[in-house]
Amino acid sequence: MSITKICCIGAGYVGGPTMSVIAQKCPHIQVTVVDLNEARIAAWNNPDVNKIPVYEPGLADVVAEARGRNLFFSMDADKAIDAAEMIFISVNTPTKTYGAGKGQAADLRYIELCARQIARVAKQDKIVIEKSTLPVRTASSIKSILDHVGNGVQFQILSNPEFLAEGTAVADLHQPDRILIGGDNTTTEGRAALEALVEIYAHWVPRERILTTNVWSSELSKLTANAFLAQRVSSINALSELCEQTGANINEISRAIGTDSRIGPKFLKASVGFGGSCFQKDILNLVYIARSYGLHEVAHYWEQVIIMNDHQKSRFAKKIVRTLYNTVSGKKIAFLGWAFKKDTNDTRESAAIYVADELLAEQAVITVYDPRVPAGQVYADLDYLKSRAADENRDLVKVAADPYEAMKEAHAVAILTEWDEFRTYNWQHVYDVMLKPAFVFDGRGIVNREALEQIGFHLYRIGSGE
Ligand code: NAD
Ligand code: UGA
Repeated sequence: MSITKICCIGAGYVGGPTMSVIAQKCPHIQVTVVDLNEARIAAWNNPDVNKIPVYEPGLADVVAEARGRNLFFSMDADKAIDAAEMIFISVNTPTKTYGAGKGQAADLRYIELCARQIARVAKQDKIVIEKSTLPVRTASSIKSILDHVGNGVQFQILSNPEFLAEGTAVADLHQPDRILIGGDNTTTEGRAALEALVEIYAHWVPRERILTTNVWSSELSKLTANAFLAQRVSSINALSELCEQTGANINEISRAIGTDSRIGPKFLKASVGFGGSCFQKDILNLVYIARSYGLHEVAHYWEQVIIMNDHQKSRFAKKIVRTLYNTVSGKKIAFLGWAFKKDTNDTRESAAIYVADELLAEQAVITVYDPRVPAGQVYADLDYLKSRAADENRDLVKVAADPYEAMKEAHAVAILTEWDEFRTYNWQHVYDVMLKPAFVFDGRGIVNREALEQIGFHLYRIGSGE
């Protein structure tokens, strides 16, 4: 089967970049990305390609190349679904905030809405692809909805989880470690659907990197991959606390263990805690699934990854309070970074939000500088926690457009995101304009200890007790 038209439901951090790259690499396929969110679609269609809603290095160029040629962003989902032979579902699957599984299970209502819409609109056979991250066995629910609401139309369901990381999305999409496709290779139609998707990726990904499995393995591999990655961060963070007590240095330990080829060097950077929209949500979901099968030890094992991460964020905030003579009330603390990692404007579950919340509870006054995150997002993130009135958040938190302005007359600087520019600031100037004693709390291990201490700063760095 040769695919000529693709529809993707969901124009978010995954749908937008993945479809842009498919359109770039497959100019013969018409790719239409649809969304319920009008502002988001308008932003993807902004004539100024630098104003698309997702900031990712290199993405604007990809969009500029394909948009209007064979890449379209639209509100008309019915039309795009009807026309497409292949439909990707790339909507959000957040943690449930109500009912059974509240706080743990994935909320699948958006997925179900997509399935019902496809069933209602489809007049010809379709291949439906799970691009969103989903609990294992979700494909059977989608299939059930499609087959029962349907009108004789045949649907093949594939699982094709996305492994891109934010900040490196375009590079990850251009040169993925692997593409994973789960499908049913026991039927002719199932095999044809698998092959149709393999064909698309084979335009730029070497075939040996395109893995096919059964649907359940593919769905569960995605949760497993995120759980393993997050577990490495929590493991190194757990040891960072021990380093601070013993004089060992976490960067030296990462190097020492990372050079063992069985362990490998990646994802061993101690930090103020992992953030992002997925690690926590996916592990909570894994924990919930394990528990729902009565596998309590399995659930308990993975839950520790989250517990350790919460501890890491909280102990960073507590360290600041303790060091500033046990009170931060009325003291100005400058936050460098609000995004959950560098090179992205995404702030979902960013450690900065939780550290700020804990300091605000101690009546600190915070000034945030982040090169990509606008003020409205900072306030929205804090308001979402409902820890205090929105007015109070605006009174206590200011957002600066200039980093030196943010740090002026501050008692302390806290580094929450590892933006490259923070390394090259004129730290002598920062010292001169801060209150003394001047403290720097480096939650990302990026500044040079000797240089800062020579200037006169008191420096705390995660995982190093010297
Ligand atoms: P997102 O919130 O950025 O985007 C989802 C979009 O779907 C939103 O714009 C929303 O308006 C739209 N939407 C929801 N329901 C809809 C419907 N019925 N019809 C049309 N549009 C609808 O989410 P995201 O970060 O792109 O994540 C999407 C999925 O991909 C999640 O399951 C996530 O776990 C997974 N994932 C995310 C990343 C990442 O880096 N963000 C990486 C890999 C996998
Ligand atoms: C992560 C995975 O890396 C992707 O493969 C996956 O597709 C994605 O989740 C998803 O499913 O959403 P992402 O969250 O974008 O990608 O970013 P990561 O680079 O994984 O970083 C996650 C968090 O861990 C960040 O806060 C980062 O600062 C932190 N981290 C990462 C560390 O603290 N130390 C490290 O060594 C690595």
